[in-house]
Amino acid sequence: MDNNIELKKSAAEAAVEEVKDGMIVGLGTGSTARFAIEKLANKIKEGKLKNIYGIPTSKRTEHLAIQLGIPVLSLNELFSQNQKLRTQNERLIDITIDGADEVDANLNLIKGGGGALLREKVIAQNTKSFLVVIDESKLSNKLGEKFFVPIEVLQFALESEKAFLESLNAKVRLRKDENGKPYVTDEGNFILDVEFGIIENPAKLNEILNERAGIVEHGIFLNKLVDKVYCSSNSGMKILYAS
Ligand code: A5P
Repeated sequence: MDNNIELKKSAAEAAVEEVKDGMIVGLGTGSTARFAIEKLANKIKEGKLKNIYGIPTSKRTEHLAIQLGIPVLSLNELFSQNQKLRTQNERLIDITIDGADEVDANLNLIKGGGGALLREKVIAQNTKSFLVVIDESKLSNKLGEKFFVPIEVLQFALESEKAFLESLNAKVRLRKDENGKPYVTDEGNFILDVEFGIIENPAKLNEILNERAGIVEHGIFLNKLVDKVYCSSNSGMKILYAS
């Protein structure tokens, strides 16, 4: 296994130690989250964790979890089964473990390299404790140093949102699948991969993007969504706490 893969695995597996019997666990998407899902499945199989339900952040993750024997619920099923708590607007997912493409010094994130940012953000917003698992190559001082921002747009609004983003001086690319066709998300939308350069003010950019009706969601996850980042490096594991 190459070094980065080893580091991803150790961050993911360390975060799984926070999962306790009876928890509802948000299951992330991507190569790092996959290690967490595999570890969770092993612990369930070995009887070390009981009464766990997973809430997948993508169809891909849902297939994987089912294949590995993790009982899964959709978000809708979770809410239907918790009539009492839902009226209190309580977050019904105990822990979510998910990867990220970039993490800045204030623990703001860029996510969506794997195309699942919309469901990932929905799950994060419904989670009590959102754990991000990365290897240290994902750390940066400011967002945009290492990764573009994936932006999910309505197919209907593709050209108008492209033009809007270009008017912000960004470089915009339509994401393609392995057949060279536009990549279609689980919710039937397209993804624009957008280079803004260094993002000095992620909160402001979040606001600007949120105002556009044609933008369904974007890959900037502000630090208020994040509880901890498990970051592994060759010199060991660090847990970074969002302030
Ligand atoms: C999926 O849409 C993403 O948000 C992933 O969590 C992110 O791209 C990190 O992926 P890796 O763990 O594969 O690097």
